Amino acid sequence: MRVKILRQQTPVSEPYWEIFSYDGPKDNTVAGLLDYLNYNDDITDINGNKTTRIGWECSCLQGMCGGCAMVINEIPSLACETFLKDMKGDELTIRPLIKFPVIHDLVVDRSVIYENLMKTDIFIGEYQPSGAKDKEHQYSAAKCLKCGLCLEVCPNYIDGKSFFGALFANDCYLVAARNSAKRKDIKKSYNEHFGSVCSKSLSCMDICPMKIQTIASMARLNR
Ligand code: SF4
Ligand code: FES
Repeated sequence: MRVKILRQQTPVSEPYWEIFSYDGPKDNTVAGLLDYLNYNDDITDINGNKTTRIGWECSCLQGMCGGCAMVINEIPSLACETFLKDMKGDELTIRPLIKFPVIHDLVVDRSVIYENLMKTDIFIGEYQPSGAKDKEHQYSAAKCLKCGLCLEVCPNYIDGKSFFGALFANDCYLVAARNSAKRKDIKKSYNEHFGSVCSKSLSCMDICPMKIQTIASMARLNR
């Protein structure tokens, strides 16, 4: 299998494509494939030229940390959840997420996600639940990995400077449900950084690996 990877050595250097040949197990995931390509001390491209290890990020390798989010065959995906046997053709294209600054190869800087949550005070703090309602959706919203895939596909999300995207809406809902004292402030931040801009393409829900129903968070917050 030919594997074409968009690489970038430093945050300020020019990106370039490098092609590798993969002859490892066919039942691997894309994460397994990257590990396989990086395994030996001598890393070579498809023409046998020496090259450097491919930079990418992972922690859990089971769809639970969000670290391995990247664009695989033009679909934003988790590498550890994407199986080669499900890919069409014999060529794989991998590139980093485009909505975040590249640090190195497939590793991007997603700190804007946490900075936005911090500056709008979207964290639970003192637990003051508003009742037993909605436990199922709270459980679902709490599964957010902060992988950023919903931001990658969102037509309104640019760089997180004003519009904060679906993960922000889900966290607003979750914190409002679990800390009633914060509701008033959350409503203001939600409207400013999500509600007034979202055009409801809902592509965020199609791509979310945790299947979080952002529209349900929106409906509950509006109510
Ligand atoms: S809402 Fe879904 S796609 Fe967005 S960051 Fe959370 S888990 Fe990832
Ligand atoms: S490595 Fe944790 S989600 Fe892929």
